[in-house]
Amino acid sequence: MSSTQPLLDGEDPTAGIRRTLAFFLYEHNRISAFKAADLGGIAPRELADPDTESGIPAYADDPQVNGDVLAILRKILAQPFKETPLLPSQEEAIAIANTAKSDRVIYDQMAEKEAAHWGKVLPNKQQQQQESLSVLDEERRAGFHLGLSRHSVNFMPWVQSQGLTFDHALSLGCGAGRLEREWLNKGIVRSFHGVDIAEDALASARAMAATEGLACTYSQGDLNFVELPSDTYDLIVASTSLHHCLFLEDVADRMKAALKPGGLVWLNDFIGDSQFQYPDRLIELTTALLKAIPEQYTYNRLQRKQIQPPKRPKLPLKSPFESIRSQEIPKIFLERFEVVQKSETHSFVRYIAPVGCLCKYHESKAGTALYDLLMTLDEFFIEQGLMAPTAGHYILKKP
Ligand SMILES: C[S@@+](CC[C@H](N)C(=O)[O-])C[C@H]1O[C@@H](n2cnc3c(N)ncnc32)[C@H](O)[C@@H]1O
Repeated sequence: MSSTQPLLDGEDPTAGIRRTLAFFLYEHNRISAFKAADLGGIAPRELADPDTESGIPAYADDPQVNGDVLAILRKILAQPFKETPLLPSQEEAIAIANTAKSDRVIYDQMAEKEAAHWGKVLPNKQQQQQESLSVLDEERRAGFHLGLSRHSVNFMPWVQSQGLTFDHALSLGCGAGRLEREWLNKGIVRSFHGVDIAEDALASARAMAATEGLACTYSQGDLNFVELPSDTYDLIVASTSLHHCLFLEDVADRMKAALKPGGLVWLNDFIGDSQFQYPDRLIELTTALLKAIPEQYTYNRLQRKQIQPPKRPKLPLKSPFESIRSQEIPKIFLERFEVVQKSETHSFVRYIAPVGCLCKYHESKAGTALYDLLMTLDEFFIEQGLMAPTAGHYILKKP
């Protein structure tokens, strides 16, 4: 967004929350006075207070500032995330994963429940996705313009900038083969093998690869146990599949053994709270923000409903392997591979302004400014260890 005039319009329904976030981010040196004025609709004279030592005005008493949001922002700032004790339900989530790891009978029961759940849910989901394709496309475009991925590493541009291509690639949890087809068609990869647990998805991947005449083979397998040939691939990709895996250490070890020396890994996954056992701070912040942000911004067009703050679901989950150990993914992989590039982004913002709400933000200067402030706050909290990221993107190398 280019702008020359600050947004001073007190009538705009986002004015109060923009002002609150802009003062807070300015106070903590995350945005300049110019940006605070521009995005927050704050007059420059309000930003410098000669009576306070720091020059930052005592904005907490400002009647337009949202006191509830400011109170939770300050509470979060006072305590690093890692120092907060685990909640009982977070301990329960760890115990569920440990029990399944140590007892194959329990693992098999969970796998059966998982298959039954997705067998019921997926056909409906696919139908809804089909109906929402044009909305999804509009939302993705709005996300692009707003800078949804402004802090994320992306594999394809990096590979192209390095002039790299790969002879033998492996895709783990390949689903219906979307990624393999795209990369083969772009000439980045010469041959791909895909593995997935879902036969239906593989059937569709095989059929589409055959239609397009692509060098792509597929086999069915559970990533937790699948045998991989050693020293074979120069690239292994796992795109949004590892958060379903229980035996992450074994999967990572097998991936490493299957790579040739110097081979690369591309991971792109949900690394947020395991089994969705969100910390209190996330629930409190999203609750306060969703009250403060005008409701036209919090209507999700894809889900066709108003966004609600996240709630911790009761355990065990209906889909037992959903994000079973998601928050452990970074540590396990970063211990085993060299990091070429990584980004860990999107903490609370995905629960406030997900794809489905982005067109509304993109529609106006005030909406774009609010989105910018939310993203800046999100990045600040992750960098300071105050909130956990949910989106992990990693380019890794076998040493
Ligand atoms: C969100 S989809 C991603 C599909 C594909 N990678 C993509 O980006 O379009 C996750 C995929 O992981 C697969 N999956 C989940 N658990 C698995 C397991 N234990 N073994 C193999 N595949 C699994 C699912 O069947 C599903 O196709």
